[in-house]
Amino acid sequence: MRLLRHSAALAALSLVVACGDDSMMNESETGSTSSTGSTSAGESETGGEDGRAYYDGAESAALGADGNKATCATCHSDDGSQDGLPGNTLMDIAFHTSFKGGDAADLLAGANACITGWMGGTALAADDAEWVALKGFIESISSPDMTTPNALEPEVLDDEAAYEAAYAGGDAVAGADAYAKACAVCHDSGLQVGSTAAYPKMTLAAYTVGRIAQKVRTSGPPPSGANDMADSTPGPMPFFEAKDLSATDLADIIAHIKG
Ligand code: HEC
Ligand code: HEC
Repeated sequence: MRLLRHSAALAALSLVVACGDDSMMNESETGSTSSTGSTSAGESETGGEDGRAYYDGAESAALGADGNKATCATCHSDDGSQDGLPGNTLMDIAFHTSFKGGDAADLLAGANACITGWMGGTALAADDAEWVALKGFIESISSPDMTTPNALEPEVLDDEAAYEAAYAGGDAVAGADAYAKACAVCHDSGLQVGSTAAYPKMTLAAYTVGRIAQKVRTSGPPPSGANDMADSTPGPMPFFEAKDLSATDLADIIAHIKG
């Protein structure tokens, strides 16, 4: 097994940003937030709760492509929990010294990688009202003492066959709960992530064990999970590191999907 840190991921993500700017410049994404921070200083001090909608509400989904239904809360908790979620908890994250395994220098760059890469939206600028509100919320759930960055350790194997060998033979019964926790939020409701709706569970069953495992471990804007052409699983679905979803749970989920 090779564990790669994506040194090239941010470069690629900025390409995604550039494409996004060209193709989906969308005035309606700005200007919808006149209520934020413009009037009372008291409001922006407690800006935490005011900004929550940019984490888990319609305001959050609107940061993405037209019709995007994924919010930050689809992939990140706000309470320190991690189980079954592909993104790290946003609790105690705001004051980390870097993000995305060192590839994003500040919180805005880390958030923009998700807004452009997964949600299909346009990168926010530091003084956009949306960002001021969202940052206020994330800071309100973060201790300034917590500054150590999280590691970023996608499980990148050589090819689909290697994933097939690693993930065959799971327990279909045990996989039901793990599927409900990690996959159902998108695949049982056809949730639109960026511009693409998640396929129904029965469609997933047609993929090989190796393909499903590779997708779960390395999905994302190219070259998410890999720095080379071996990454054949780009797309708006997020990847899950081993700390988000254990190898046993993933093998069981795949057995469950394939019935
Ligand atoms: C479709 C899933 C998804 C959505 C939606 C999403 N993210 Fe992420 N995010 C991820 C994944 C996967 C990672 C990479 C793993 C990690 O570092 O947590 C990540 C990483 C991050 C990081 C870096 C974390 C770290 O520890 O270095 C930040 C900050 C972040 N996201 C913020 C946001 C914010 C803010 C939003 C909403 C505007 C958002 N994300 C929306 C999946 C998502
Ligand atoms: C945040 C939403 C989200 C979550 C959570 C999620 N998926 Fe997906 N998934 C998608 C979307 C959207 C697509 C279609 C776009 C793409 O391929 O990225 C997709 C596509 C797939 C595919 C098609 C692969 C291919 O080669 O095209 C498979 C297999 C899959 N998901 C399995 C899973 C499994 C297993 C889980 C749970 C461990 C999971 N997904 C969790 C959103 C999600």
